[in-house]
Amino acid sequence: MEAPGGAEGVRCHHPVVEMLDLPFLPFCIFLGLLGFVCVAFVSAWCQYWRGGFAWDGSTQMFNWHPVLMVTGMVVLYGAASLVYRLPSSWSGPKLPWKVLHSSLALAAFILAVLGLVAVFRFHNDHGTPNMYSLHSWLGLATILLFSCQWLMGFSTFLLPWAPAWLRGLYKPIHVFFGSTILLLAVASCVSGINEKLFFSLKNGTTQYKLLPAEAVFANTLGLLILLFGVLVLGALARPSWKRPDADSLDSCQPLLADER
Ligand code: HEM
Repeated sequence: MEAPGGAEGVRCHHPVVEMLDLPFLPFCIFLGLLGFVCVAFVSAWCQYWRGGFAWDGSTQMFNWHPVLMVTGMVVLYGAASLVYRLPSSWSGPKLPWKVLHSSLALAAFILAVLGLVAVFRFHNDHGTPNMYSLHSWLGLATILLFSCQWLMGFSTFLLPWAPAWLRGLYKPIHVFFGSTILLLAVASCVSGINEKLFFSLKNGTTQYKLLPAEAVFANTLGLLILLFGVLVLGALARPSWKRPDADSLDSCQPLLADER
């Protein structure tokens, strides 16, 4: 569907560029499948190699941490960030799309908080110190940034009080930190997977350096998460997939005022 104002304005018609002009919908389906595969891989890893799941402070409780983090901070958050790339969001009322964007981000945040509860409770019940590793610092910084991003986005774009100049000023900042947070989430997941493999594949099991099947599987999971993140960032940066009026003043209208 062609957007009002014409997406053509931002499209280049050089034959090579046209050849690469992948339609958004098939890309989205591929990305959805990749996201599903990431969640299936992290769940299978924790189920078959790490002893399954429980909510009782045990090692099985820790296993919720990677599953909830990958599902929330990578897959759901990635989906939330792409809502405005759907051509159907370019025309008609913006309210449903803004509500969808903020709800997906909120769901991602809730899963991330549950994932943190799982790892902190596991540490506390085992007398393990908190917040000593690079992974934990990076991870917590990601979640703190994400909380600020959600609160700022909600109060600036969803509530009607913010003046147009403030929304215009904040929008590029919101867009920049949106991509940065996804990048940090992917880095947190990759460092967490690596750390878990170093912790687990030693005494009594095949060492990590001998590359047992679990290591091949979890390394692959890390690469799939990275691929998912790179594809989302690529889609966000692609000019022809951006809402045609993305930089106009109109796009900075407050959500609730739009509906008045
Ligand atoms: C965005 C994703 C992630 C975030 C924000 C995150 C955040 C955190 C935080 C804040 C801690 C510290 C808990 C404490 O000190 O008690 C932690 C611990 C841990 N996480 Fe993650 N994590 C993420 C993904 C993952 C993934 C995918 C794995 C894979 C297994 C993982 C493995 C671990 C491990 C082994 C620990 C315990 C050791 C340590 O404190 O570094 N994390 N994580």
